[in-house]
Amino acid sequence: MFKAVLFDLDGVITDTAEYHFLAWEKLAKSIGITIDREFNENLKGVSREESLRRILAHGGRETDFSATEFADMAKRKNDNYVDMIQQVSPSDVYPGILQLLQDLRENDVKIALASASKNGPFLLKQMNLTDYFDAIADPAKVAENKPAPDIFIAAAEGVGVDVTQTIGIEDAYSGIAAIKSAYAVPIGVGSHEVLGDDIALVNETSQLTFAYLQEVWEDYKK
Ligand code: G6P
Ligand code: MG
Repeated sequence: MFKAVLFDLDGVITDTAEYHFLAWEKLAKSIGITIDREFNENLKGVSREESLRRILAHGGRETDFSATEFADMAKRKNDNYVDMIQQVSPSDVYPGILQLLQDLRENDVKIALASASKNGPFLLKQMNLTDYFDAIADPAKVAENKPAPDIFIAAAEGVGVDVTQTIGIEDAYSGIAAIKSAYAVPIGVGSHEVLGDDIALVNETSQLTFAYLQEVWEDYKK
């Protein structure tokens, strides 16, 4: 049996992936760059600074801004995002997630957060979920962002479990790649077109039951 589950946050625990998109869309528009939801798939799971670099490259403006202007744009996006998430409450937790967290606890499976977001701890608090988490990996302390495995390895270390004995749950392409290179067992939330057809996948978080996780684990370890 798996010993821990490593959760991504945005787009797995709640719908904040949409707020990240809206905040980036607004920032991009202010400098004359248009981004759509298809392009946004490249930003999911990606750090704030790397997201901004990708947006500037998308608009052909990667050399147009000084380091100060770059930092100011990243701050403007985050200020707008932080305004939006003040409204997040326990009713915003995606279907099935609370039940899964309860079932994991009852079965002595450790729970850790492996999100690239520096707003993760605040969001868990807003949703009354902090107490379920045995560890929150700090994205500021890892050497490399997703798709590197670092944040998943740090999350497993945080709960004292070897990463190969864990399941990672992700909605982002970069996140699934990170789980794979950490040698954890991946479960995707989303579509095969985005996340690949070689992993276990649910379209809805309500399908993320404890029984489903056990099934995936047993299949994977066969
Ligand atoms: C997650 C999200 C990304 C976001 C990143 C950094 O990985 O999927 O969309 O850019 O976290 O979040 P932050 O809240 O620190 O800007
Ligand atoms: Mg995500």
